[in-house]
Amino acid sequence: MYVFLPLIIVGVLLLITGVLILLDYVFGGSSEKKITLNKDTELVVFGDESVLTTLAANKVFIPSACGGKATCGLCKFRLVDDVPKVKPTEEPFLSKEEIEDGIRLSCQVKVKDKMQIMLPEGLLSAKEFQTVVSEIEELTYDIKRVRFELKEPHSVDFKPGQFMQLKVPGIEVIRAYSLASDPAHTDYVEMLIRLVPKGQATTYVHKALRVGDKAILIGPFGDFFLQEDSDKPIVCIAGGSGKAPIRAILFRLKALGMPRKVQYFFGAKSLKDLFYTEEFKAIQKEYPNFEYIPALSAPDASDNWKGEVGLITDVLDRLTGDLTASEAYLCGSPGMINACINVLNKHKIIKENVYFDNFS
Ligand SMILES: Cc1cc2nc3c(=O)[nH]c(=O)nc-3n(C[C@H](O)[C@H](O)[C@H](O)COP(=O)(O)OP(=O)(O)OC[C@H]3O[C@@H](n4cnc5c(N)ncnc54)[C@H](O)[C@@H]3O)c2cc1C
Ligand code: FES
Repeated sequence: MYVFLPLIIVGVLLLITGVLILLDYVFGGSSEKKITLNKDTELVVFGDESVLTTLAANKVFIPSACGGKATCGLCKFRLVDDVPKVKPTEEPFLSKEEIEDGIRLSCQVKVKDKMQIMLPEGLLSAKEFQTVVSEIEELTYDIKRVRFELKEPHSVDFKPGQFMQLKVPGIEVIRAYSLASDPAHTDYVEMLIRLVPKGQATTYVHKALRVGDKAILIGPFGDFFLQEDSDKPIVCIAGGSGKAPIRAILFRLKALGMPRKVQYFFGAKSLKDLFYTEEFKAIQKEYPNFEYIPALSAPDASDNWKGEVGLITDVLDRLTGDLTASEAYLCGSPGMINACINVLNKHKIIKENVYFDNFS
């Protein structure tokens, strides 16, 4: 009897596995599911992963900056019917109106047998790009410019201000980075990547990424971009790597002949945090409409700094007048953005004319 015991145990385990596979198949795991996208596109999908992952496997890319950890809130989509109850993980990112309107986070909702979902049309043109790192430049002690040459597809159209997702080679984590290059150059894109202490993606980029490495980019995404049909004067405000999308916006404004008055406030702590100063001073020299205002909040004595000193909010407050007719583009940490919006409000900016990209 004892001789057969191992065989009996293996047999029972195999039987349980078979039943589990069968149950998974019958109740949805690997059965075929249908997703109707924007009312007119039918996708047949398998598995029971999140909507975010399932759509990405079918080449429909919803933006995500946290790789599905419910910490970025970028992956919103709308369910037309059969809307699940909102999860506690989704609540911080959804307004009452959005919840009522069927908006959810696609990384928190699993695919079901039949789903009707709506995505902004702009998202449907996002693609996956095979790229090769062709340049890496150290801009400061903690910010690197990385150029990615596009191989397949070999060109991209993006609006200045938009971002792409970088699937970091080697560790496969996905993070969002604004595009810092001239949108007129469609065969490569550049990102300005700031090292976050203990950050997974940025540690890899700063310590291990090399020229010649392959990387995947997904996008472009985002509704933070230059409003080209407007002729309003512009106030740009950025800190750290927030300079990236503003640089792309300035490339575009330059290509248009700098038709609008632009004031660009850049906040940094000390001289070692400033970069591209010569580039922006040169634009200022060429175009009287453009003013570059770097400000240091805590310059070192050895910096010998003759420019603006103080928090960027104070400098903004001091150097701007009535902003009723202006448009503002802000980029950086949530704290900086909120503080600057308070100053812009004080100067009577109209809420609808404020555009910002939160690097959270
Ligand atoms: C739309 C968008 C555009 C972005 N564009 C840029 C860009 O152009 N350049 C750029 O450098 N970054 C940009 N970011 C931030 C970027 O996506 C990553 O969050 C950042 O690089 C950190 O990634 P990580 O994997 O190194 O850190 P993680 O491993 O994700 O985080 C490690 C720890 O650091 C904290 N942390 C995460 N991000 C930051 C941060 N930015 N500052 C301080 N602490 C942080 C986390 O809470 C966590 O505790 C952008 C984010 C968004 C949403
Ligand atoms: S992917 Fe970041 S919250 Fe869903």
